[in-house]
Amino acid sequence: MDETGRQQQLWDQWAPHYNHEHQGRDPGPAVDFLASLTGTAGKALELAVGTGRIALPLADLGIPVTGIDVSAAMLDELHRHRGDRAVTTHTADMADLDTGSERFELIYVAFSSFYFLMTQPRQAACLQQVVRALAPGGRFVIEATIPRAPGLLAGAQQLAIRDLTDTHLSLSAITHDPIAQTIRFQELRFDQDGLRLLPVAMRYVHLSELDLLAADAGLNLTDRYADWHRAPLTATSTQHISVYTPAGAAP
Ligand SMILES: C[S@@+](CC[C@H](N)C(=O)[O-])C[C@H]1O[C@@H](n2cnc3c(N)ncnc32)[C@H](O)[C@@H]1O
Repeated sequence: MDETGRQQQLWDQWAPHYNHEHQGRDPGPAVDFLASLTGTAGKALELAVGTGRIALPLADLGIPVTGIDVSAAMLDELHRHRGDRAVTTHTADMADLDTGSERFELIYVAFSSFYFLMTQPRQAACLQQVVRALAPGGRFVIEATIPRAPGLLAGAQQLAIRDLTDTHLSLSAITHDPIAQTIRFQELRFDQDGLRLLPVAMRYVHLSELDLLAADAGLNLTDRYADWHRAPLTATSTQHISVYTPAGAAP
């Protein structure tokens, strides 16, 4: 099975549980940030849109959103909650992004989802397609974890307790390949219904690699923050929000 099929299979498994698992993650700051970049006349494209955690509230602000995702089951969840919002979706791998002649003022990929492209060539291909799909002066935004999770780089394996109550146990079992820059993990959930496995596979990139891949595709970094509130990035930041524009575009 190729990586597209593999990611599809993993995320189909997540689909019925995703919103519950991430109900504590407030999309508000991301939505405000993205809306401020799009402008009232702009259209947005979300790569790896999932169940629409960000796309649906962004559309509530009057910004039409197109979402692509490899998992039809995740998109089914999005459509169950879409109502009459201006959100359209396509089932596709973001490395094969093809928007035809349509151009977007904003393209974004949130929650480290860029890392679900499992090789450097697929990540490079995605960025090249992003440049083709951006309107003149448009912005590309990535939200991702800075790959320095405690303990992860020191060893190949890790088991972490995420949550423990009288009726419930959440564990993460992680393996790390520092050569391929890949992390594979299982979120394990034990409760009265039994055991549930929620698998994840990702290839992280350091900021320097990301900026090189972006520059190679024709994207210049214009801003970088530690969070959606535009806090400055520091040596202790755990995630970054990076904003790129096509090279040669007016700032
Ligand atoms: C962590 S979820 C993020 C969903 C949403 N963006 C959010 O912030 O809640 C990751 C999503 O990436 C999708 N995905 C994984 N690999 C992909 C790929 N190669 N192309 C497009 N979508 C992909 C999964 O199906 C899943 O919906």
